[in-house]
Amino acid sequence: MIIAIDGPAGSGKSTVAKLVAQKLGFAYLDTGAMYRAVAWRALERDVALDDEAELTSIASSEPISFGYLPGEPLPSKVFINSQDVSKEIRLPQTDKAVSPVSAVLGVREALVAQQQRIGVLQDTVMEGRDIGTAVFPNAELKIYLTASPEVRAARRLEQNLRRFGKDAPNMNREEILAEIIRRDTYDSEREHSPLVAADDALTLDTSAMGINEVVDWIAAHATA
Ligand code: DC
Repeated sequence: MIIAIDGPAGSGKSTVAKLVAQKLGFAYLDTGAMYRAVAWRALERDVALDDEAELTSIASSEPISFGYLPGEPLPSKVFINSQDVSKEIRLPQTDKAVSPVSAVLGVREALVAQQQRIGVLQDTVMEGRDIGTAVFPNAELKIYLTASPEVRAARRLEQNLRRFGKDAPNMNREEILAEIIRRDTYDSEREHSPLVAADDALTLDTSAMGINEVVDWIAAHATA
């Protein structure tokens, strides 16, 4: 069974998807991390973000894999071609580069193929932007999570603090909000597989909901 969780940045997808996977004993795949890994590689190599051929070549020739931190039930380490890029993919420069990189058709085709290969192996909670529309259009359960931009910016700020501690790269709520709005607009307006709820997705606005409430709601639909 595939549970597809799509939605904009900061909608709570990652936290919720991980907890749902744990609760149901499913595997978990963060597809955004894959686009981020390609974007980071492009930045590292000074590849222009409109060089479609080179970006496609990175996505199709450098495999992305995931790993576990000691004691973790779900994978959170991200590797591209065996190089650990777990921290780098969360830096503000990667946030900025990832939308144009993920708009490239060749990049999407290469990563979607990897995601489909991973998803057929076992029951999986897969989170992203196009899981219910393009990666697994026949997913048994499709959830579209959303929340107000202000709530999403506050969540992203907390997440940065948790991830980076005192070295958190961006602590300014206004800047985070502007970045989130910029990225959502780009992701929603791109030509290939834009961010949009699938017709048969259940949409949930999580602005005023607690994490556990959202997780229980999704788990109840999965087991109904
Ligand atoms: O979920 P995230 O913020 O880590 O995703 C980073 C970017 O990757 C997002 O701005 C758009 C892109 N993305 C995508 O196009 N398709 C996906 N399935 C997942 C992410």
